[in-house]
Amino acid sequence: MIEPAAHIWTGDDLTDDEFAAITLLLRERRQFDLDQYKDRCIRRRIAKRLRSCKVADVASYLKRLEMDRDELDTLLATISIHVSQFFRNPDTYRILEQKILPDLCRRARATGRTELTFWSAGCASGEEPYSLALLIDDMNVRDLKINILATDVSEPVLDAARCGNFEALRLKEVPPEVLDKYFYRDSGHYQVIERIRDQVEFRQHNIMTASDYPPADLILCRNVMIYFTRVEQERILSRFAATLPEHGVLVLGRSETMTGDIRRYYQSEFPVERVFRRTADPVTVADI
Ligand SMILES: C[S@@+](CC[C@H](N)C(=O)[O-])C[C@H]1O[C@@H](n2cnc3c(N)ncnc32)[C@H](O)[C@@H]1O
Repeated sequence: MIEPAAHIWTGDDLTDDEFAAITLLLRERRQFDLDQYKDRCIRRRIAKRLRSCKVADVASYLKRLEMDRDELDTLLATISIHVSQFFRNPDTYRILEQKILPDLCRRARATGRTELTFWSAGCASGEEPYSLALLIDDMNVRDLKINILATDVSEPVLDAARCGNFEALRLKEVPPEVLDKYFYRDSGHYQVIERIRDQVEFRQHNIMTASDYPPADLILCRNVMIYFTRVEQERILSRFAATLPEHGVLVLGRSETMTGDIRRYYQSEFPVERVFRRTADPVTVADI
């Protein structure tokens, strides 16, 4: 017998009740709150999973989610996309290397500071903070201590980041001489050398909760907030402003924009690369 063709889920075909039931399970069982994410993004991701599992109706998928912890984790991983790359958008890293990092070091020296902190917020498997660590190592700064903090909401992704082992496709933008200098080849994978791994501190942190925003002189938060509502984005941008000193730098993803009142906290320095400089405007508590 020919089986009926599986329904091609799009996400718009989930009822509100079905959508609510799935998000409730993720909140209750994985403490992952989707309220501040854009519904359409989440629906599309859930649909991707429904298509992969060839689900005929959502009720049966919900039953599976209740019993099958692995499927719940796979769904969560599908929703909170972790795709990253070493030196993703190389032009951004060129600006960091040639303009921003030397400028932050110069300002620190001029004010007698001995330490700087660079924060990769939403660091996925570590490609972004390790790329930063490679740049800094190459700059050979001896008179300043540079701390690299990398945070993500997802523990499994942080575990992978700490291992520092990557498939070749994550390293497409890494020049061969950098690969030779900073990686061991390990059966088709690349392992970041220990000296670089030790330079990055990985820590779990949810940028949607107002607490524990670390002080930082440079924040990279790229391709993380695109999935959040505008209101939530503005709250997070205010918290970043509260944590950055005047002249501190924020880098967003190339498709991300800044709108609304919070723009007074930032001056655009390299508009295409979404590099912003913190202004002197004090942050109002109501914004956070
Ligand atoms: C697409 S990756 C971006 C990785 C890297 N920043 C880049 O641009 O290549 C998005 C990351 O944001 C993380 N993320 C999503 N929601 C978050 C939250 N509320 N707090 C912290 N990280 C979050 C995800 O777990 C994922 O690893």
